[in-house]
Parts: sequence; C-alpha cells; structure tokens
Amino acid sequence: MAVGSRPLTAYFPLLTADCILPTIYCSLLTSKFNLYNLFIKTTSDGSKTIFSERFQEGYHSVNGAVTESMHVFINAGFKECAKNPVNIFEVGFGTGLNAYLTYIESGKQQVSVNYHSIELFPLDDSMIETLDYPAFLSFDANIFRTLHHAPWNEQVVISPKFQLMKIKADLLKVNLTDQYDLVYFDAFSPAQQPELWEESIFIKLYQHLNNGGILTTYCAKGDVRRSLKRVGFVTERLQGPPGKHEMLRAKKG
Ligand SMILES: C[S@@+](CC[C@H](N)C(=O)[O-])C[C@H]1O[C@@H](n2cnc3c(N)ncnc32)[C@H](O)[C@@H]1O
Repeated sequence: MAVGSRPLTAYFPLLTADCILPTIYCSLLTSKFNLYNLFIKTTSDGSKTIFSERFQEGYHSVNGAVTESMHVFINAGFKECAKNPVNIFEVGFGTGLNAYLTYIESGKQQVSVNYHSIELFPLDDSMIETLDYPAFLSFDANIFRTLHHAPWNEQVVISPKFQLMKIKADLLKVNLTDQYDLVYFDAFSPAQQPELWEESIFIKLYQHLNNGGILTTYCAKGDVRRSLKRVGFVTERLQGPPGKHEMLRAKKG
C-alpha cells in the first residue's frame, strides 16, 4: 500500500459475505450525480466510518476512524495552530467527524473557531445517525446534529465560540474568498481522486492561508510533498496514525 493512500484492498481487504453481514448497507441517491453505495464499517478503535463504492475508499482509516482524525487533524493541526480565533478550512465535510472533534477540542482549549468546510456529495441523515459518534465520544449529540443540519452556504453560529459554514461546492471550481490559519486536507486519496491533489489546488489553498498557516493531511506520498514544496510550503513528515508510517504537515512562511 502506498503510504497515505486509502485503497480498498488495504482498508477493506475482505469484502466478502463475512464482512458485509455486520455492515449496514445503504443506497443513496446523492445530489445530481450517480447512484452510489455506501457501507458503514466499524474500525479498529471501535469508531465507525463509511466506505464509498463510488470512490472505492473509506472516509477514514480502518485502523481507527476517530484515532486517525485526532492524530492528523486535531493533534498535528488544531493543537499546533496558536491562533485564537482560528479560521479553519476543511476539504471534505463528509461525516462531520473533524468538525465535531474540533468543536470538542476548541471547547477544552477555550479557542474560538470559524470553521469552513467544502463538500460536493453530502451524506444522508440516516447514515450520519448510524455513525454513533456522539455515543463513541461521550459528547452532546445535539451538537453533532446541529453541525449536520446547518444550512449550506450560510455562516451559522453553533455556539458563541464556534461558527460554521458548510460550502456545497466542488473544490476544483470553488473561488475561495476568505483567509485561513489551518487547512484540514481530507480528500480521498491521490489514487482515487488525483485531480484534488494537483498543484493548482495547493496553490489555491496556499493563497488563502495566512502567513504561518498550516495544512495537514493523512497522506505522505512523495509526489504530494514535492507539489506542496514547489508551491512554497515548508513540509514536515510526521509519524502517521496507526497503520500509516507517516503523514504530512505543511506550513506557509
Ligand atoms: C476522505 S472523505 C473525508 C470526509 C470528512 N473529512 C470526514 O471526516 O468524514 C473525502 C470527502 O471529500 C468529498 N469530496 C469528494 N470530491 C470532492 C470535491 N470535488 N469537492 C468537494 N468535496 C469533495 C467526499 O464526498 C468526502 O466527503
């Protein structure tokens, strides 16, 4: 397995009847695109994730969804960013796990957050409920629901210290207007969505990062690291979450 990628065979090696039986199978008609299938899967730390047949990949590592998000985005990103308030841009709202973990962590640290997240293929409500993240994290389920039910393309006050704007758009086409301190780059892997890892995307993100801003991603591929460097980022290879040798953190300036 290439370090940082999340291919089907690495994360879901036995997609047989044994594996499919304990999963809940959902067919969703999402937006104006194709009919595609999503499976709920329990990962090694007991938290759940989704496997997308359309992208042939899991939303998180099978070695622990919450563990991976905590490691890559909260510990290597949010906790490293000294800003208060902090402006965050996430690539791929998906299950809302990163937003929820950021909400929880920002409360502990008393940091104000302005969280923007782009998503082209929003998930269905029933699937989101099945993920059970509030129970797993022992945290207020109303907050998780509020994050998901927030209207698209509007700035919403989730709490006095947490504002959210979910942007329903294609990362390839969107014109960003704000400046950010932190980017959670959580696209599907370069193997599945190479277009989202093109240098032109990193240029766009670099231009919308403040000086000292951070981009963090689970991916540690050499090609990605070299692209980030060409764009102007200073890159670091950090220890990856369980199941991955390394991950990347990139800083501007
Ligand atoms: C690896 S998943 C991670 C999602 C989320 N961060 C989470 O923790 O659940 C990648 C996400 O990117 C979204 N996505 C795929 N292509 C996109 C695009 N062109 N523009 C915006 N989002 C996209 C997918 O629908 C998916 O929700």
